Amino acid sequence: MKTIILGIESSCDDTSAAVIADGLLLSNVIASQDVHAEYGGVVPELASRAHQQNILPVVDTALRRAGVSRSDLSAIAFTRGPGLLGSLLVGTSFAKGMSLGLRVPIVDVNHLHGHVLSHFIRREETDTVPEYPFICLLISGGNSQIILVRAYNDMEILGQTIDDAAGEAFDKCAKVMGLPYPGGPHIDRLAAEGNPEAFKFAKPHIPGFDYSFSGLKTSFLYTLRDHLKTDPDFIERNKADLAASLQKTIIDILLDKLAKAVRETGVKTVAIGGGVSANSGVRAAIEEFCRRRGLTAFIPPRLFTTDNAAMVAIAGYYKYLDRDFCPYDLAPYARVNV
Ligand code: KG4
Repeated sequence: MKTIILGIESSCDDTSAAVIADGLLLSNVIASQDVHAEYGGVVPELASRAHQQNILPVVDTALRRAGVSRSDLSAIAFTRGPGLLGSLLVGTSFAKGMSLGLRVPIVDVNHLHGHVLSHFIRREETDTVPEYPFICLLISGGNSQIILVRAYNDMEILGQTIDDAAGEAFDKCAKVMGLPYPGGPHIDRLAAEGNPEAFKFAKPHIPGFDYSFSGLKTSFLYTLRDHLKTDPDFIERNKADLAASLQKTIIDILLDKLAKAVRETGVKTVAIGGGVSANSGVRAAIEEFCRRRGLTAFIPPRLFTTDNAAMVAIAGYYKYLDRDFCPYDLAPYARVNV
């Protein structure tokens, strides 16, 4: 009999459900929420209401597309945290109710583990997955972490940001340039047309493996302020160069600590994950970084860089195989590390 896991993700503003059978992805459905667009960020209360509306049709569609009926399920995996508490409650409560009705176990998943384990989602039997140990650079709107992954359930944070995350550096700088939220994808698009050497921004000198992006943000702001005094059209005329230079500085900061981590751990494989790993410059830089050092690079398909239930289902699959189920009185958590 196959092990079939339904994964449910509702940590922020995407409602997602996915089905994985014996480690192979059968379906992955994501309903994004448009209600936040006019507010320039996610409104937690609106997010949880939208999850409530979306979750049933999303789960139904995921099962239908997978060609699986509810009675075929071995377990239900759900994101327990970190994320928005109201949003997490919807997925958690739904998973509990469905599991009680079907008499199958529930498995709680740490959202950040999901991002790391997204490299184990196989769509074909022939897809390759990372070998342990490997380093995962987890870069998103809320996290910038260098994680040493020894096993699916054994991860150590070697370093992380002491202030802003890489995604926040993209988004905050994009905001002062007048770009829509989230600004990361807009910087990515503009950077393709610009000169990455046009502007120089500050890079941090932080000991160990930790990151800092707030100095870069300040230096970016000062550059704009100084030029805008004499040239009101400065941003408009230089937006591609500003974007390219900002992106290059973020990549340099990320790779500097990654190089140190690879050197000191001696790992042979590097993976990236989280929203910022969708960035074209980051993807190309990681490929090149690994090629030069003879390392194997795992770059996730763009679909798996953002929040999705496929990564929850695969993380749940491994926990299920170890019979690592969770009790019904378990509550979601807003904050946690890997
Ligand atoms: O993992 P994620 O979806 O969720 C949060 O942790 O919030 O990451 C979202 C972040 C945002 O900061 C967004 O600007 C950034 O990922 N992002 C990008 C790109 N696509 C998404 N940043 C740079 N380039 C991109 N192409």
